[in-house]
Amino acid sequence: MTPLLRRSFVVIGRTAAASADFSLEDLPGSSGRLDVLLRCVRAALLFSHGLRTDVRVYLVLRGGALAPRVLRVDGATARFIRPDERSLALLVQKTLRGAPQLPAGEFVEIKPGVALAAGDLDCVLADLGAAVRFVLEEGAPDLRGSGLVPDEHAAFFLGDHLGFDEATRAELAAIGATAVSLGPLSLHSDDAIAVLSNELDRLQANRS
Ligand SMILES: C[S@@+](CC[C@H](N)C(=O)[O-])C[C@H]1O[C@@H](n2cnc3c(N)ncnc32)[C@H](O)[C@@H]1O
Repeated sequence: MTPLLRRSFVVIGRTAAASADFSLEDLPGSSGRLDVLLRCVRAALLFSHGLRTDVRVYLVLRGGALAPRVLRVDGATARFIRPDERSLALLVQKTLRGAPQLPAGEFVEIKPGVALAAGDLDCVLADLGAAVRFVLEEGAPDLRGSGLVPDEHAAFFLGDHLGFDEATRAELAAIGATAVSLGPLSLHSDDAIAVLSNELDRLQANRS
C-alpha cells in the first residue's frame, strides 16, 4: 500500500543549476549552490538508517541553461538516496542529464522516485493538490500556534541561501500560504527542515 503523503518541502533555488553542467569536484562553485538544496533533500528525507516514506521534496532550479526546472524526490518510491552530498549530487546530475527535453509542466520520472518537470512554481502548485501551504519566513508568527494538524498533508516553502525574491513571496502570498517562523534565528535551509521535521515528528507522536 502507498504510504500516506504527509509532508512536502519546496525549496526555491534562485541560482541552482537546472542542467547537468556542473562539476562534482567543485559543487558550490560550479552549480549555483545546488549543494544547499542537496542538503535539504537529505534533511527532509533521511533519518538515521531510514528514508521517510511520507515525504516529498521539490527543488525549484532557477539557474543556468534549461531553467526553470523542478526536480521532485518522492520518499515512497525513491531508491539509492544516500546522505552524502557527492552521491546526491551525482544522482541529481544523472537525472538532469537524462532529460534534455521535457513536456512543459509535467513531471516525468527519470529514476526511481526522482522526477523532473520543465517549469517553475506553477508545476509544483499543480502537483501539490490540496495540501495546506506554509511559507517558512524569519520574523513571521511562530509555527507553534499556527494550527498545524499532524497527518494532514502540509507543504512548506523555503528559500535557499539567498532567501525568497519578492516575486516569489508575492506568488506564495497570492495562493494563501501562511507565513510561519521556527524561532528567533535565521537558520540554514536544511537546518530549518530538520527543526521543522522534529516539530512535526513530535506532534505526530503525541497526537491522541
Ligand atoms: C539561510 S535562510 C535565508 C537567508 C537569507 N539571507 C534571507 O535573508 O532571506 C534560508 C531559508 O530558510 C528558512 N528559514 C531560515 N530560518 C528560519 C526561521 N527562523 N524561521 C522560518 N524559516 C526560516 C527560510 O525559508 C529562508 O528563506
